[in-house]
Amino acid sequence: MTDDVLATSEVAGDGELDASLRPRRLEEFIGQARVKEQLSLVLDGAKGRGAPSDHLLFSGPPGLGKTSLAGIVAAEMDADLRTTSGPALERPGDLAAILTNLEAGDVLFVDEIHRLPRPVEEILYPAMEDFSLDIVVGKGPGAKALRLPLPAFTLVGATTRTGLITSPLRDRFGFAARLDFYDAGELVGILVRSARILGVALDTDGAAEVARRSRGTPRIANRLLKRVRDYAEVRADGTVTGGVARAALELFEVDGRGLDKLDRWVLLALCRDFGGGPVGLSTLAVAVGEEADTVEDVVEPFLIQQGLLARTPRGRIATAGAYRHLGLIPPADPAVSPSLFDG
Ligand SMILES: Nc1ncnc2c1ncn2[C@@H]1O[C@H](COP(=O)(O)OP(=O)(O)OP(=O)(O)O)[C@@H](O)[C@H]1O
Ligand SMILES: [Mg+2]
Repeated sequence: MTDDVLATSEVAGDGELDASLRPRRLEEFIGQARVKEQLSLVLDGAKGRGAPSDHLLFSGPPGLGKTSLAGIVAAEMDADLRTTSGPALERPGDLAAILTNLEAGDVLFVDEIHRLPRPVEEILYPAMEDFSLDIVVGKGPGAKALRLPLPAFTLVGATTRTGLITSPLRDRFGFAARLDFYDAGELVGILVRSARILGVALDTDGAAEVARRSRGTPRIANRLLKRVRDYAEVRADGTVTGGVARAALELFEVDGRGLDKLDRWVLLALCRDFGGGPVGLSTLAVAVGEEADTVEDVVEPFLIQQGLLARTPRGRIATAGAYRHLGLIPPADPAVSPSLFDG
């Protein structure tokens, strides 16, 4: 650890550090081996032909690397990256202005693409398919439809909700990748890289402990690394060991499986207030004082992946594993006879 690294990391806030932790090139992007291999093939193919890549869609829960991949696509293609988002594009004119300012080969990143208003989305169809912009000039009977050519560009879309992407939009992406939660080994790799960048002394047990508690999510792994680093520096000798990591994460209320307070509240509400379910998403969200979107996008995917919660047509249900994780006794059949158990 050099003094320089320490000095910069002490001055910069967490947000600024994130930028330096973001992988810039595909080879720095750890995990998601299948997606990486597919993407590198798509990009190498395009580069070989000297053409922009097909349009790309990345989906998956927050913090798994969608924005990072958009930056990587631009870097690998030696292209400029323009960034916008679904909610920022309120009117068709907003998107038209961006499209007409693109240069050949640019990568246009549209984050939260599932939140594009419909009229804006319709501008994208011909833009993606034929690199053209359809505009209507004038009003009433004298109105004229014009078609303007656009430079060839690559659209990269990101979404936490594939299900909300309309099929005409989805069909216009040449390659769509779904990012999954990372396994512990991949998270250890990410933590070791981040520790090197931040100048944190992290031993093998420490890395394994933080990885295990990171909800399969690189962003969370990096955040926890910073908190255990604080703990190591203030309450120990500066090295993040297994013991330091455990103590720090207990202090920050991250449990042994990586569930944070909100995760546990959701499970507890489900198991206790609603007898294991089924309960509707919005009712559950109100019970924990959160937006339904947050519960659905941020909390549930990991609980589902861990087999603690399930979505059914009648609502959310807790599994027997959820009761066990909370130290409660599961009812004989949690989803069907919830009233048998009163925690
Ligand atoms: N595969 C990876 N290797 C190394 N670091 C990663 C990887 N994926 C993500 N990260 C780290 O996690 C952080 C969050 O990733 P990113 O912003 O790309 O997620 P996202 O999927 O766009 O999230 P959101 O849906 O919230 O926008 C990055 O800044 C980076 O530090
Ligand atoms: Mg993002």
